[in-house]
Amino acid sequence: TWQQVPLAPPDSIFKLTAAFKADTYEKKVNLGVGAYRDDNSKPWVLPVVKKATQLLLTDDTLDHEYLPILGLPEYTAAAARLILGPDSPAIQENRVVSAQTISGTGANHLGALFLSRFYGFNGDKKIYLSNPTWANHHAIFRNVGIEPVDYPYYDPKTIGLDFDGFINTLKAAPERSVFLLHACAHNPTGVDPTPEQWKGIADVILERKHYAFFDCAYQGFASGDLDKDAFAVRYFVSRGVPSLVCQSFAKNAGLYGERVGALHVVSKDLETANRIKSQLSVLQRSEISNPPSHGARLITLILNDGALFEEWKRDISTMANRIIAMRKELHRLLTEELRTPGNWDHIINQIGMFSFTGINPEQSQALVEKAHVYLTGNGRISMAGLNSHNIRYFAENLDKVVRG
Ligand code: LMR
Repeated sequence: TWQQVPLAPPDSIFKLTAAFKADTYEKKVNLGVGAYRDDNSKPWVLPVVKKATQLLLTDDTLDHEYLPILGLPEYTAAAARLILGPDSPAIQENRVVSAQTISGTGANHLGALFLSRFYGFNGDKKIYLSNPTWANHHAIFRNVGIEPVDYPYYDPKTIGLDFDGFINTLKAAPERSVFLLHACAHNPTGVDPTPEQWKGIADVILERKHYAFFDCAYQGFASGDLDKDAFAVRYFVSRGVPSLVCQSFAKNAGLYGERVGALHVVSKDLETANRIKSQLSVLQRSEISNPPSHGARLITLILNDGALFEEWKRDISTMANRIIAMRKELHRLLTEELRTPGNWDHIINQIGMFSFTGINPEQSQALVEKAHVYLTGNGRISMAGLNSHNIRYFAENLDKVVRG
């Protein structure tokens, strides 16, 4: 048995974490996985999370019983309000179905599985993914028999958004196609549509009766403002675009390993919502039975307590502002000090965890092999891996590979 199993390649992102850990070079830099680090390259436990953890520890009413199949109701309700907005008409009309998931990946999976079972695909089961996108999206949809198709997104000439290409594909796609949209802080490019462009995208989606499959892994992380980063999702819902949202608290609450996320399906009315809910329960039961409680309890405390919520917002600003400061400093080093050939304005124009540097795979590989700087082959860098101690080293080595 199993002799016929072919060897699979390692994951393109997590292999970098392993290689970085194994590297003994003193000046090594990890710009691979999108995980926040403080100015000393250390993971950051948010102070608000420390406080909420203490509260849980002293709460004698808690036990280790199973959560309901769709998760902790106080958690999913608060999470829905966070992304859809406290005054969301969809919430008020009781037509949002929320399921607690194994972080954003689990939300994507449950959403994909639900679509593959129940979405009225126009022909073959397909999902349009931005080119490029988070590598895992492809595998998640393939796993449930939905074939990924690319839509133009990133324009290498401008290192920005290929808005016309995107709109033309939205127009040309068969009616009722499903488009995966990064709600904010696009992974891997850091290139987001402007609010004006989002309006244009929503217009065509409505016209063509498409479905918006939002992946929102970075609310608050992009701009430092939870509401601003929820603009696209809230706008689409307000326009009545058929949508679902995958939500993660990995990044904005630093709860990577706790796997705390949610899937929100916005439906037409309460009656439809009830049917969707019943089917999501069946799917979730067969996959994970019920989700884990610890992270959901932490987030419930933070979202439902005024003081903790304010503190969380400050923690988010701390992370977002450090990243924005690193963007400015990298831009300054490249353009003013090193005078690196090319235009580097995209470093300050892109937002969120990642920057798409625009360097090619050979240059990325040279950074890994010669400078011990770990980044994905597509030239994506996790800005959170840069800090006041290593940014000059990185800029100098980027300069070297660009000059060739
Ligand atoms: C990333 O893109 O680096 C993160 O979203 C982590 C992951 O799961 O790939």
